[in-house]
Amino acid sequence: SDTELGTYPHYMIKEINEQPQVMRKIIKEYQDDNGDLKIDKNIIKQLNEADRLYIIAAGTSYHAGLIGKEYFEKWAGVPTEVHVASEFVYNTPLLSENPLFIFISQSGETADSRAVLVDIKEKGYKSLTITNVPGSTLSREADETLILHAGPEIAVASTKAYVAQIAVLAITAAVTARELNKVSDMNLMSELAKVTTAITSVIEDADKIEEIVKSYLETARNTFFIGRAMDYYVGLEGALKLKEISYIQAEGFAGGELKHGTIALIEEGTPVFALSTQEKVDLNIRSNAQEVKARGANVCVVAMEGLEQEGDAYVIPRVDDMLTPLVSVVVYQLISYYAALHRGNDVDKPRNLAKSVTVE
Ligand code: G6P
Repeated sequence: SDTELGTYPHYMIKEINEQPQVMRKIIKEYQDDNGDLKIDKNIIKQLNEADRLYIIAAGTSYHAGLIGKEYFEKWAGVPTEVHVASEFVYNTPLLSENPLFIFISQSGETADSRAVLVDIKEKGYKSLTITNVPGSTLSREADETLILHAGPEIAVASTKAYVAQIAVLAITAAVTARELNKVSDMNLMSELAKVTTAITSVIEDADKIEEIVKSYLETARNTFFIGRAMDYYVGLEGALKLKEISYIQAEGFAGGELKHGTIALIEEGTPVFALSTQEKVDLNIRSNAQEVKARGANVCVVAMEGLEQEGDAYVIPRVDDMLTPLVSVVVYQLISYYAALHRGNDVDKPRNLAKSVTVE
């Protein structure tokens, strides 16, 4: 069944491997008989009426929200903010006239997110929850729900739910764009199908990625993930994943920001992961990689096909520019998995962490 390990040694690797299947399921669930994108009409109405979106989430779901913002703003032209749920109460932004709150939560039970939902409901604002668990608290209490269809996620470190969140956010933003008559030359569903194939090919390269772990992380105590544009957000998730299960200190940084302080931490042999999937910033991130290399860093470049250079550690298949996070994150998931495994850690149940945090 969905919740049994079968032949897999850990839930995390099982769930990483399920990602192509999850993508196919989402493509199917969010498409009508004519192959058009399909979401509930009440949700379309909510999105049409909103003048600004406020995405609220925690942890990995927050990182998915950052990518979602790009879709809503670049495709649909709807201003979007992303907030860490636990901070929203203190640093409440000025709200627009017709805000729509979007809660992203794998479990639908995160207390920090629920606290925001309770508060904004009292104030009379509209809400939409994007969750993997139908009937969960955040789903029941919000006006509307979109389901992730990722199947049960058991490993504490979230993998397939993140990919599902990004795919569902992309679909939701593309529907919003369509309703607002924004022209697009992209057929999202066929691009998502290409993404699915690309994810499969990364998964088939698991052995190669395990070798990367041996070359870069076997003795590491700390490491950095750099990227620009969407690759920066994927770096944040890569760093979180690695910390959670390998206990290696890892930080995600915008490529250009590293030199404003953090580069002081680079020593001989410090591993730095640099991601380059965005043509417009490829040169800049390459030069950031050079800067840290010149200070002794052991730089591992992951690039997209077409942007690869000699010496890159891994090349992901080419997919649409806006959808690269769905593929590149899988490389980081596998790196984290093998790093934890080689250290003899409990991959599925890392110390001090809970799958869903139901206290504020
Ligand atoms: C916990 C989990 C994380 C997760 C976060 C948000 O901290 O360990 O993996 O990203 O909660 O959970 P949610 O269910 O709201 O997405």
